[in-house]
Amino acid sequence: MKRRSFIKGMAAAGATTLIPAGALGGLLSSCKQEPKTPGWNFDEVLDRSGTWSIKYGRAKEGQLAMWIADMDFKTDPAVSAALRERIDRDIIGYTSMPDDFQDSVRDWQRSRNGFNVERDWISFCPGVIASINQAYLTFTEPGDKIIVQTPVYDPFFRYAQRLGRVPVENPLIYENGRYRMDLEGLERLFDERTKILVLCNPHNPVGILWPRETLEELAEICARHGVLVVSDEIHSDMPLFGKKHLPFCSISETAARIGIMFGSPTKSFNFAGLAATAWCIIPNPELRKRYVDGLQNAKLAEASVLSVIATIAAYNHEPVWLNDLIRYLEGNILRVEQFFRENDLGITAVRPEASFLVWLDCRAKNLSQEKLISWFQDDAGILVNNGASYGTGGEGFVRLNVGCPRSIVDEALGRILKLKG
Ligand SMILES: Cc1ncc(COP(=O)(O)O)c(C=O)c1O
Repeated sequence: MKRRSFIKGMAAAGATTLIPAGALGGLLSSCKQEPKTPGWNFDEVLDRSGTWSIKYGRAKEGQLAMWIADMDFKTDPAVSAALRERIDRDIIGYTSMPDDFQDSVRDWQRSRNGFNVERDWISFCPGVIASINQAYLTFTEPGDKIIVQTPVYDPFFRYAQRLGRVPVENPLIYENGRYRMDLEGLERLFDERTKILVLCNPHNPVGILWPRETLEELAEICARHGVLVVSDEIHSDMPLFGKKHLPFCSISETAARIGIMFGSPTKSFNFAGLAATAWCIIPNPELRKRYVDGLQNAKLAEASVLSVIATIAAYNHEPVWLNDLIRYLEGNILRVEQFFRENDLGITAVRPEASFLVWLDCRAKNLSQEKLISWFQDDAGILVNNGASYGTGGEGFVRLNVGCPRSIVDEALGRILKLKG
């Protein structure tokens, strides 16, 4: 309680970072420093050496690591403080799941998304991808079809394949710089072996927060064909530019009947290294029982106490740090967008509506995918995610992670500008 009012006090003291897009001149030279937020400083360049960081482990000397989706920021101090408190007691024995876990997820959904979730609908899950895989195992048989809407976070289809299921692509439609779902295409794809559709909301890598009409229609189509919707909402805590996230199961009675939502604070509060912590929300009691029984049978329903502590701390505090982070990310995204608008490089940034990943449309460069990746990684020295790895529709694109200090974004843009010659 004390901490809550302390953080609220910081907000009242005007602890915000409002970031203008900035002119190109300022962008590459004297980057104006925004007012610092007491307690955290997103401009700070962290030394991640010796931390076994996957992101930096793959970077060659001098390369900027702007790929895998973790951010180069310290986590929310409220999270570190809660972890420290427990570590300082040196007590890390077998621990039961506290009621606070479900309560914190329920309260967070209510306050953040206006979604009134019953606490019984919520269960602890061992990480989003492990839990989606568990849904594949629970609700499908080998050879059954799982629909993915590419370009999309590739573990959805890679694990489906590894588990002997058949991933089927329903590629997104990209028109006039906007992505939308191909709902008619979807209807044509379904057959009696189609059991699950994986929804990515917000959609990684294209950054869309799916609109209400799309979700409503999607729910109706899937319900008509007896297909479950597994909705990955891990990026949903970071809606940008005043947009709102709509949790799939909140959309309609139909969606609540056929939907299983997964989420986690690991992405938004930047503690992915704690791993194996997530939650699921399953309003339908039958689906919930089958799913949770499956988790328990596989002994996957038990959490690391530290990840539970971190989750409760993240969700139970006023999200002042997170709201500041979102503003900072918006500043980075505007910077990137403006840079590509003003410099004719054959690259357009698709503005994300959530999170910290920018999908760059590089098709006008007319390079093969291999040359495109080499252009970014070898010539510019920027490690990015290869758009082609996300399935159909990803060719000609790369994904750039701007969850990093502004100076790193500026360095990357400066390197790209130099290549223009
Ligand atoms: C859409 C999406 N889902 C899931 C994950 C990974 O979640 P977890 O580490 O909990 O398996 C990521 C990580 O980047 C992601 O982007």
